[in-house]
Amino acid sequence: ERRFLTLGIESSCDDTAVSILDGQRDVKADLISSQIKDHAPFGGVVPEFASRKHLEAILPLVDRALENAGVSDPAQELSLIGVTAGPGLMGSLLVGVMTAKALAQTWHLPILGVNHLEGHLFANVVASPDLEPPFICLIVSGGHTEIILAEDFGNYSLLGATRDDAAGEAYDKVAKLLGLGYPGGPIIDSLAHKGNSEAFSFPVPLRSSDEIAFSFSGLKTAVLWAVKDLKEKSVDLPIADLCASFQKAAVEALMTKVERAVEVTGIRKVAISGGVAANRGLRNALQRKKDWNVFIPPAIRCTDNGVMIAAAAYNGYKRGLISDLFLTPNPSWPL
Ligand code: KG4
Ligand code: ZN
Repeated sequence: ERRFLTLGIESSCDDTAVSILDGQRDVKADLISSQIKDHAPFGGVVPEFASRKHLEAILPLVDRALENAGVSDPAQELSLIGVTAGPGLMGSLLVGVMTAKALAQTWHLPILGVNHLEGHLFANVVASPDLEPPFICLIVSGGHTEIILAEDFGNYSLLGATRDDAAGEAYDKVAKLLGLGYPGGPIIDSLAHKGNSEAFSFPVPLRSSDEIAFSFSGLKTAVLWAVKDLKEKSVDLPIADLCASFQKAAVEALMTKVERAVEVTGIRKVAISGGVAANRGLRNALQRKKDWNVFIPPAIRCTDNGVMIAAAAYNGYKRGLISDLFLTPNPSWPL
């Protein structure tokens, strides 16, 4: 049986990722070059620096991915190239898109530009063969906090989004003000499990509103005031308690709106994705929803990766989508 190999390329933010997928979910290669250490001294992603790092990383990654998948003649053995074309950082996206176009032209392969958010959604398709639309997907990352209704593959509507900071951004900012390092999400997550979540009562943003929307800047500010107050009293910061209390409010803010989306749509199939979907507090809260059908990808597929892009590209190509060599990145491409 002939393989259908899709080369997936992701470079929208600070990770360069290259994967090779056979069909919809058989992973043949999955590589990622993280820039976390390069950006850590700055406490966040520095766009110009990110694109230079992508440029250094991308071709060696493609070579290694081909090797891992046992592909010796890409022009003959690959069937499709999928690449993230937005949303994301323009300079970072450009490196992926230009590389993908050069390879597509060299190897005479079809190319498809993929929306990064649809990519996140497809992390669930790879992980769960039984996930069929319609379903709801909460995409929570450093750049996004959105609830999407997937009526069908390729047919998405936005049920609600954040009005200010993304959830991951709030995690990163709170970690920064607690002096915990970057990226803050995983650090706060593990400290939260050692702390008392009742120690501080932080506001759950928009809890009493019927609207499907998020706001995280007020929560971040509430943590800031609590920290200021403690510092003025010269008290040692109860870091774990602060993390636990913040995480409780953040997870509740996310869960309240997913509950609302289920109520409004009547759809009980709920998927999550994006970096914050790796959060143990959020994963546990979802797993407690016994009357929902919950889909949670493994943590490594929640954060940015190439597999999700290859999977979305494969699915789109099978639905008849195709790009050409005029493909250009769109930093604010809506889903
Ligand atoms: O999806 P992703 O890798 O990149 C973006 O597209 O943004 O998400 C990265 C974000 C960062 O803000 C990071 O702090 C957060 O996801 N994150 C977490 C956890 N792991 C990563 N936030 C909370 N808990 C975690 N375990
Ligand atoms: Zn992402």
